[in-house]
Amino acid sequence: MNTPTTGRYCVIGNPIAQSRSPEIQARFGEQLGEPIDYTRRLAPVDGFEASVRAFFAEGGQGMNVTAPFKVEAATRADRASPRVIRAGAANCLRLRDGRIEAENFDGVGLVRDLTHNLGVELAGRRVLLLGAGGAARGVIDPLLEAGVRELVIANRTRSRAEALAEAFAFSAASSAGPAAIVRGVALEDVVAAESASVSTTTGNGAFDVVIDATSAALGGDAVQLPPAAFAPGALAYAMAYGKGLTPFLASAAEAGARVADGLGMLVEQAAESYAWWRGRRPETGAVLAEFAATLPPLKQTAA
Ligand code: ATR
Repeated sequence: MNTPTTGRYCVIGNPIAQSRSPEIQARFGEQLGEPIDYTRRLAPVDGFEASVRAFFAEGGQGMNVTAPFKVEAATRADRASPRVIRAGAANCLRLRDGRIEAENFDGVGLVRDLTHNLGVELAGRRVLLLGAGGAARGVIDPLLEAGVRELVIANRTRSRAEALAEAFAFSAASSAGPAAIVRGVALEDVVAAESASVSTTTGNGAFDVVIDATSAALGGDAVQLPPAAFAPGALAYAMAYGKGLTPFLASAAEAGARVADGLGMLVEQAAESYAWWRGRRPETGAVLAEFAATLPPLKQTAA
């Protein structure tokens, strides 16, 4: 006899077969003694809202949202959290009192992975964020809240990076502690930079943390940075996961940086989602270790 489940959840996207969320959430449920029913849901690209409403009408309690629907999840929900409104994107939905509520745990998941799992101190650091799409937008506020001193957003289309930097200048000024500097630059300026011009175009010096939030690796394209972009002891972080050593991570490893992919971010945002739905936060360490062992290895350079 099957153990009765204690709630219905899903992850919605297009495509969706690649998602590891069902396995992660199932482990959390087992760990907390609350077996949950968590499935993958493929929505037509033009049928996101109908699919979401159908799932909740069928008794679903919560869902994670992945590409390409995160922006739509923010605008179609009945109630969006301040974090969702700032990010313009949501990755988590739940039904409360007949209304669909939206949250975004991507940035919290990233910051927790960086600080808790990877031991990176963000306060006072210089961070380079590659990309200006939904993935980048969702992590800016949490990075600023963590006390980043300078955030440079570098994007293939410079104007999008500048617009994003402008949009977040206010939260940089109003976050706790000294105001952070947020600027938008062209990705090509960072890629082409020798150490001197990295200084003049993007601030004074190399970066302590470099985060790839572009979709370049997903399309098989390459973003590679020069060694001058990485400060001694820097961490290079690819938000995508399961791609092994992408050209971005390889260029970082060659420069002597530590490298990590976004599996930890995925697991941490999953734990935040679980807690938001069910009131208890699962422990992430064992689940992260288990799933990391199933992915292509990231070659680490010696410290
Ligand atoms: P997401 O929601 O995943 O962020 P998106 O909004 O389509 O998706 O944004 C994709 C990001 O990856 C953008 O910053 C995009 O740059 P542009 O704004 O110039 O389009 C970036 N990107 C995609 N392919 C890229 C590539 N081959 N090289 C560099 N940047 C790339």
